[in-house]
Amino acid sequence: MRHFLDISQLSEDDVLKLIARANDFKQQSTSLSSVMAMYNDYTVANLFYENSTRTRISFELAAKKLGLSCINFDLERSSVSKGETIEDTFRTLMAMGVDLFVLRHQENGIFNRLSSICDSVHLINAGEGNKAHPSQAMIDMMTILEYKKELSQLKIVVIGDVKHSRVAHSFQQVCALMSVGELVFVAPPKWLPKEMSFGRMTSSLQDGLSNADVVMCLRIQHERLDTGDELDLDTYRRSYALNAATLKLAQKNAIVMHPGPINRGVEIDNEVADGLQSCILQQVKNGVFMRMAIFDRLLSLRS
Ligand code: CP
Repeated sequence: MRHFLDISQLSEDDVLKLIARANDFKQQSTSLSSVMAMYNDYTVANLFYENSTRTRISFELAAKKLGLSCINFDLERSSVSKGETIEDTFRTLMAMGVDLFVLRHQENGIFNRLSSICDSVHLINAGEGNKAHPSQAMIDMMTILEYKKELSQLKIVVIGDVKHSRVAHSFQQVCALMSVGELVFVAPPKWLPKEMSFGRMTSSLQDGLSNADVVMCLRIQHERLDTGDELDLDTYRRSYALNAATLKLAQKNAIVMHPGPINRGVEIDNEVADGLQSCILQQVKNGVFMRMAIFDRLLSLRS
């Protein structure tokens, strides 16, 4: 595997191996000093054309824990403001010896454009338009498997702005690959996509939440709403917010997830976000280890 771009490039075995490797790093069952000795000549560049806290910092921490040098590309102070194309930015950094590129970009298809000039380096998708966020999907699957063992027996519900969410898209791919029992997307009609290749869609929160084992909330993707997609936040909140009362519809031992950033008081209330069933910070923690596993996978298969 040269690049890590989409869940569709992975098999079920790949997913399980990445999760096992991430757990090795998490449980410190792999000697980091030997891994660092293998990887300390490599340099990773983090290029975020959209804002990020979790993804950017966890890729940086993951790189540093593996002994890689890490450059955080400063978009505001870069020559992008002078008209440099992304292709030329990549060519420039490749000429300087960057080996791995972690890229977040608003354009669907940006990785197809770049992969033709990146055959000697590794590209990692850290968020692509509304299309894909594959490392987040891997983190979410890793987290679910920490709490729930039988994926085929699970009901997972994803509530929120499904239509504009790259997290939802990659998550349904990984759920399909791992044969999750039931996947339900809940959103107001205008925030449901025309189709999903796996799982069913409903606008009824009660239908979605009823007996769910895993409840994932999504934030409203304000930056990707088209004209006509806007919805009054109070209206949304009244019908779709996850709070102590609505969470009671799910199984008693349901876990609550959110890829972040969370908008407290909109899609999720404090009592649930900070409650005993919340795994939100566990997802964040797992992000570092899963991203270590992704770097390790790309570098260990390097030909
Ligand atoms: N989940 C996620 O992508 O968060 P950030 O935007 O903070 O990276």
